[in-house]
Amino acid sequence: MRTTHIAAGIVLAAALAGVFVLAGGDPRSGAPEKAAVALHKSAACGCCGVYGSYLRREGYGVEVHNTNDLAAKKRELGVPRELESCHTSEVGGYVVEGHVPEEAIAKLLQEKPDIVGIGMGGMPSGSPGMPGPKQGPFVIYEIGRGSLGGVFMTL
Ligand code: CU
Ligand code: CU
Repeated sequence: MRTTHIAAGIVLAAALAGVFVLAGGDPRSGAPEKAAVALHKSAACGCCGVYGSYLRREGYGVEVHNTNDLAAKKRELGVPRELESCHTSEVGGYVVEGHVPEEAIAKLLQEKPDIVGIGMGGMPSGSPGMPGPKQGPFVIYEIGRGSLGGVFMTL
């Protein structure tokens, strides 16, 4: 009788552990809570790596791709020169150029506008992945087909 009780206890504990694993997402598969991001950067870029860590903390699955020819990647993905930053991400079929805050990516994936993507040029102080104080509003632009679009979001 006693061994049956112990066995039943072990089965129950295992079942509860299984429920916990399912509730928190399966850690073995590394499935992201939000979307999967492919981040293209040059190997030497430090702030790009910090931006990747920021997105991971925000719940995105981030795969880093180091490249020797980031400029070619930006042309391939249609990033306008005015918006160029140090790294280029692909998420949910969109291009996200630079140190764009997560709020803008969330809005993009939710609203699904008919554009190529969004971007914030340069590497503004205080933006995700960049040190220093924020020195003004972050203006995130739309990337149209072959051109710079209008303002997508200001944060
Ligand atoms: Cu940067
Ligand atoms: Cu970067």
